[in-house]
Amino acid sequence: MCRPTHFEVTYEINAWMDSDVPVDPALAMRQWETLRQAYLDLGHQVEVIENAPGLPDMVFAANAGTVIDGTVVPAKFLNSERAGEEAPYTAWFREHFDSVVEPTFVNEGEGDYLWTGSRLLAGSGFRTDPRAHDELAGALGVTVQPLELVSPYFYHLDTALTILGDDEIAYIPEAFSDESQRVLSELYPEAIHVSLPDAQWFGLNATSDGRNVVVAQQAEGMQQALAAAGYVPVPVDVSEFRKAGGGIKCCTLELRG
Ligand code: ARG
Repeated sequence: MCRPTHFEVTYEINAWMDSDVPVDPALAMRQWETLRQAYLDLGHQVEVIENAPGLPDMVFAANAGTVIDGTVVPAKFLNSERAGEEAPYTAWFREHFDSVVEPTFVNEGEGDYLWTGSRLLAGSGFRTDPRAHDELAGALGVTVQPLELVSPYFYHLDTALTILGDDEIAYIPEAFSDESQRVLSELYPEAIHVSLPDAQWFGLNATSDGRNVVVAQQAEGMQQALAAAGYVPVPVDVSEFRKAGGGIKCCTLELRG
């Protein structure tokens, strides 16, 4: 996670961002601390990188890269506003991991790559270049399933789909192209479908350890569906970050291995 010391909305690179809407920095920091504490209470180890000045979106650590089995592919951002995050995150990865494979094509890390445990679901349409999918498959030695995003409000895969457990997912169908909806319903016939209001609260921007799902407090219908499916919802309010188009998962990069 990245401590949001310099979090604000000063530019607009997604449909949620409005630089005229002020951010409450103290509230954002409290919400971020609550999220970090929720992970600690669940017994997870949390590494914290400090926020470099002038990089207000650096708090969205999920975008920093993709880490599977101890190999890291750092991000290469589409927007120049975020390109400055690449150096501090890559330096951090190099300090903590032996295997760091620098990318050629634009990829926004776990914003667009979600690991199910057996395949890497790979979003494109707004940020990550589809050519990056093969690049990641090669670097990480995994099978990639491309998925095309079509709604500007669900511009990263992690805003539209959550990995809940081994091959168990939740998603909002209308965020995907017809072809990708077909692929998802074939691969995951038992998936939980989430309503538009819950998805707009970034309910799908959740993290799961296979049992506990840390999920937006406001996404109540999704929490009921999770509980009915045997998961334990852990509601956390990170509403300040929605002003920048992010939620719980965006603030969290999983370090596997
Ligand atoms: N303002 C950031 C951007 O548009 C939000 C990133 C949200 N991160 C995520 N993993 N979806 O890049």
